[in-house]
Amino acid sequence: MAQPQAQNNNRQTPIRIWNIPVRLFHWTLVGCFITAWLTRDNRYLDIHLFAGYLMAGLIVFRILWGVIGGPYASFRDFAFGWHEVWLYLKGVLNRRPPRFLGHNPAGSWAIYLLLTLGVLIVITGLLGLGGEEQQGPLAGWLNYPQGKLAQDLHELLAWLMLGVVGTHLIGVLVESLLHKENLVSAMLTGYKPAPANAVSAASQWKTGIAMAIIILAGGLIWFQGYLTATANQPYRPFIGPELPDNALWREECGACHLAFHPSLLPARSWRTMMEEQASHFGEDLFLEPDTVAEIKTFLVKNAAEQELTEAAWKINQSIPKSKTLLRITEAPYWLKKHRDISDAIWQNPKVNGKVNCAACHLDAEMGTFEDAAMRLPD
Ligand code: HEC
Ligand code: HEC
Repeated sequence: MAQPQAQNNNRQTPIRIWNIPVRLFHWTLVGCFITAWLTRDNRYLDIHLFAGYLMAGLIVFRILWGVIGGPYASFRDFAFGWHEVWLYLKGVLNRRPPRFLGHNPAGSWAIYLLLTLGVLIVITGLLGLGGEEQQGPLAGWLNYPQGKLAQDLHELLAWLMLGVVGTHLIGVLVESLLHKENLVSAMLTGYKPAPANAVSAASQWKTGIAMAIIILAGGLIWFQGYLTATANQPYRPFIGPELPDNALWREECGACHLAFHPSLLPARSWRTMMEEQASHFGEDLFLEPDTVAEIKTFLVKNAAEQELTEAAWKINQSIPKSKTLLRITEAPYWLKKHRDISDAIWQNPKVNGKVNCAACHLDAEMGTFEDAAMRLPD
């Protein structure tokens, strides 16, 4: 374990303390954390997920690097017990904290806390993604309400992490002032003044370059859709789960308008609609009994109660059980989600009414209605 340095050592020359992988880890993690905050709205889920996966990779790397990373980076160089933290904090209160070349005891606890919170945030994020969106490596592990719970926990943990980050920043500031040295620039350049007998860290530039290449290549693969998108084939950053399909339904119910996916209304609505197909919003659909039966079975089997998507769950929750709505656009959840849209937009020739879901939802045909696939026409 690292020992505190003598306070007023005369012959101090700058030596490398933080190797390149430690610095790259630190600043990329900062970038991930900020990016994840800025993209917390589901509309930017693809960017948010990239930040999350990158964070997961960085943490796994840092744990490994804590074993093989060499002086100052190794966990054994900052494995401080509670007593040392206490002594250090007492030193801070007396304005004479001992100086450590590597992490000080309080800082090291902040690091362990941040790594732990990072791991928990990644796990709850993946659980939320798997439950709420039925996506990612844990897709299907949880249903929608359980996924929502994981998501709430994810947000709580993110706030906690923000708190620890704030404390960490205050610690950096206080120590920088008390020791009259700039710790932020030390984490950028890697160098700190040290007594002549101190051990210098190797730059480890090969590992650093490998990290940079993996991060850049990962980003390029993840976001390649933005590069290959065209006006006719707009980029869909986040593709929802593949929902059940039926050729007869698509043909018959997609003839006059979008074939509204069964998950958008409860089973009782579809039953009524199919029984009354001869007077469908003023139209007679002229369907044969066999056709009616097949479509009805498909609609009822995949209705909103099956909670195939987040929208299905929320639409179903929002409609009172005593009501049988024939319009998705009358469901309280639909109304709530669209109440801020102005009349000018509804009357825009590219939209032309509420029923034309595909004007704004790139995934309307699929029935998933992901936030990230929503585009208001200009
Ligand atoms: C002959 C044309 C036609 C066919 C075929 C048709 N519909 Fe419709 N549908 C309409 C019209 C017209 C409306 C009312 C649209 C409006 O209000 O702008 C409508 C509205 C709807 C709505 C309500 C949309 C809302 O406001 O939320 C649903 C749901 C619906 N249709 C389901 C179906 C299903 C299921 C089938 C297949 C069995 C089907 N439609 C086939 C003409 C058709
Ligand atoms: C004029 C553009 C527009 C049209 C047309 C439109 N929507 Fe939307 N929709 C939006 C906007 C904008 C939001 C996002 C609101 C928000 O972010 O809270 C949204 C949100 C939603 C959501 C919530 C998504 C989620 O994950 O929470 C669903 C479900 C939805 N729309 C379904 C529909 C259906 C079904 C139709 C057709 C009957 C439709 N929308 C027509 C603009 C539109």
